[in-house]
Amino acid sequence: SIPVITIDGPSASGKGTLADLVAAKLGYWVLDSGALYRATALASLRAGVSLDNEHDIAALASQLDLHFEGGQVFLGHEDVTHALRDETVGAMSSKVAALPAVRLALHSLQLAFRRLPGLVADGRDMGTMLFPQAGLKVFLTASAATRAERRHKQLISKGISASIADLREDLEARDLRDQSRKVSPLKPAADALMLDNSSQTIEESVDLVLSWWAD
Ligand code: CDP
Repeated sequence: SIPVITIDGPSASGKGTLADLVAAKLGYWVLDSGALYRATALASLRAGVSLDNEHDIAALASQLDLHFEGGQVFLGHEDVTHALRDETVGAMSSKVAALPAVRLALHSLQLAFRRLPGLVADGRDMGTMLFPQAGLKVFLTASAATRAERRHKQLISKGISASIADLREDLEARDLRDQSRKVSPLKPAADALMLDNSSQTIEESVDLVLSWWAD
């Protein structure tokens, strides 16, 4: 069967960076599942669909014309790489992610990323719901302070200004929503290996995950 590594964890824990680097080392595909929820949020905001309208948001999710090319994300022909990282979209994404019909609509789309020679999938429920048979499940955490600082640096590098305190508040609110929702709440799989990378360099985290994978 096709090998899968899952990396789940809270906002701004560094899942995306870790997933990209591990996948590059192994020559595997990457699934950034958060981008699908963010794209659904963006499409809903643009269409002016309210959160009460679960059915219409799920319809938008099932019709997403999303493509990943290199480091860029396209919705139709539009480059939405930056738009998806917007904090408004981030906040909306954890609200649409709490809707069962939306999660269902994105299910098969996510499974389709599992292709040879292998997949590294990052998100909230990769190890618990999408790929329960994965050969390695990592649950990545970092302190809220560290995560807010990282998100801040990431935004600054893209020329977007934001306050660390606001960012921390946003990500803690999002984590609380992700952990307390009824469907697929954020939690480690029973067989996940815990990795707190607060005081690790990204290279150290990559090496650790690769050593777990080699075992
Ligand atoms: O980049 P960051 O870690 O802040 O967020 P993300 O991974 O892009 O995910 C955005 C939002 O989508 C999260 O807050 C979750 O509510 C939702 N999500 C989810 O419910 N399930 C996933 N597998 C991935 C993301």
